[in-house]
Amino acid sequence: MSKPVVAIVYHSGFGHTKVQAEAVLAGIQEVEAVEGVLVPVDEVEEKWEALDGAAAIIFGTPIYMGNVSAAFQAFAEKTSKRWYERKWVNKLAAGFVNSASQNGDKHQGMLALFGLSQQHGMIWVGLGLLPGNNSSQASIEDMNRLGSFAGAYAQSNADQGPDVVPPASDRKTASHLGRRVAEAALRWTKGA
Ligand SMILES: Cc1cc2nc3c(=O)[nH]c(=O)nc-3n(C[C@H](O)[C@H](O)[C@H](O)COP(=O)(O)O)c2cc1C
Repeated sequence: MSKPVVAIVYHSGFGHTKVQAEAVLAGIQEVEAVEGVLVPVDEVEEKWEALDGAAAIIFGTPIYMGNVSAAFQAFAEKTSKRWYERKWVNKLAAGFVNSASQNGDKHQGMLALFGLSQQHGMIWVGLGLLPGNNSSQASIEDMNRLGSFAGAYAQSNADQGPDVVPPASDRKTASHLGRRVAEAALRWTKGA
């Protein structure tokens, strides 16, 4: 029997969100019985089949002007054929976002990813971690240092490249999301 697939479809203009996507993939790969697939939005035309066959799709975007990037939104609109055919109904979905500011209106983008998943009748999997970095004993090294429940958040300093940011805590948080969705996909496809 072939392994359930968890696909990550993402955009990254300058490489920071790509690092986050790779961290999500590393988390998926911790679950041996699941296969992870990376789909950059500019390669989607060759990879629709991987998305259609996936048990779960994790959406990822940088925040540009307070929302998902235009390239991500172009992908979202291209999914309308799938929407029309109800191809993604009952797949699991999750999301990750990355931006330069600590807040940066990331949640607006996360809600757009959630909205896309609900248009398709997918089932949203949140982060499943308590917030880190929110007490006198806490630090920016904590997992979920940006304190989200909806998905994995990352912050990349505007003057640093993807070799440095997003920092380890955000990459660990992204891996946690990948692993969580992979484990959920295993349970979700049991007996299917
Ligand atoms: C056109 C544009 C708009 C941006 N708007 C925001 C924003 O609204 N909030 C924010 O915090 N950062 C904003 N940024 C910074 C990016 O989110 C940040 O540099 C991010 O790490 C880029 O990810 P990428 O390298 O994957 O493209 C913007 C960057 C660009 C190029």
